[in-house]
Amino acid sequence: MPQSTDLHSTAIPDLFTPLRLGAIELPNRVVMAPMTRSRAGEGNCPTALTAEYYAQRASAGLIITEATQVCDTAQGYPSTPGIHTDAQTLAWRAVADAVHNAGGRIVTQLWHVGRISHPRFQPNGAAPVAPSAIAAKGQLFTGAGMEPFPVPRALETAEIPALVRHFADAAKRAVFDAGLDGVEIHAANGYLIDQFLRDSTNTRTDQYGGTVENRCRFLLEILEATAHAVGADRIGVRLSPTGVFNDMSDSDPLPHFLAITKALNPFNLAYLHVIEGRPGHHMAPPEGAPHVASALRAAYKGPFILNGGYSRSDADAALAKGEADAVSFGEPFISNPDLPARFRVGASLAEPDRTTYYGGDAKGYTDYPALESVAA
Ligand code: PHB
Repeated sequence: MPQSTDLHSTAIPDLFTPLRLGAIELPNRVVMAPMTRSRAGEGNCPTALTAEYYAQRASAGLIITEATQVCDTAQGYPSTPGIHTDAQTLAWRAVADAVHNAGGRIVTQLWHVGRISHPRFQPNGAAPVAPSAIAAKGQLFTGAGMEPFPVPRALETAEIPALVRHFADAAKRAVFDAGLDGVEIHAANGYLIDQFLRDSTNTRTDQYGGTVENRCRFLLEILEATAHAVGADRIGVRLSPTGVFNDMSDSDPLPHFLAITKALNPFNLAYLHVIEGRPGHHMAPPEGAPHVASALRAAYKGPFILNGGYSRSDADAALAKGEADAVSFGEPFISNPDLPARFRVGASLAEPDRTTYYGGDAKGYTDYPALESVAA
């Protein structure tokens, strides 16, 4: 029988068993996954509507915000928020206050998009930066229509410490100035850190490329710097070892990501968050490719969050089998602001309107009703 602790009151957990993630105590294990909504205002600041949107979802065990730029070269989509200016930081303070006043917990996801950008989003119209000068196949939406991904500029070795500092500075702003409960380092989905991790996008010959030890150096330096800044118990990491989104691949994800996961252990982070879609989910590994999340779970010594198209019953089964400590839900949280309550009573879920995922106003953002107003 597993040892019971103050927060693990039952031997077999379900979505409503409390959980401690580092310094953050969750009343339930229904985590809101990070989702880009492209509704930031002037200066890429979150708005009053952003605060309302997250406050409506405060019953989540933990809210992980949409990905948020750590510096002015980090953006790759229109109207995504940043947390590197004073105005942005102040605006995040209003979001944190609104969520806390509604009884919730919220960490912000820190990202740099790397090559998944365009000169239109870069200072002085420069090329986006990446570990290596390898363009992603495909096109991106720049605000002026769809355009091909540009060839990025490979970062000089000497430029990397400043990028590491940007993550640490953003973490400090998030925790000490904005009053958020922590940060999640976005090392998934083909953005800058993932571009360093996987060997299809990292062909560097310096200490940041070549071996898996070298490819994960950038992530580990970011963790060291952010942990020094705000404490490891307020930091999570997100990985997508088998995802192909943003033209990603890796020659051997299982041993590579096992090595990366083991390298995370000494940090004693708040959590590791792995995205690996269930069969049929858009973030699932390609047909025939291995699933690696369970091996990473076994290798990781701290709290583990899974994501990728889980239903309530899939999630409860995963928790009962010990495949994860919590499960994060994305799209269901868009259209069901009170998702935990709906899970608890077995209510049906509202379907999200995909046409309002990105950009726009309150429609499809803050106008999904909670259950009691549906019933009333
Ligand atoms: C998106 O905007 O589609 C997006 C952003 C961040 C992710 C994944 C998808 O990690």
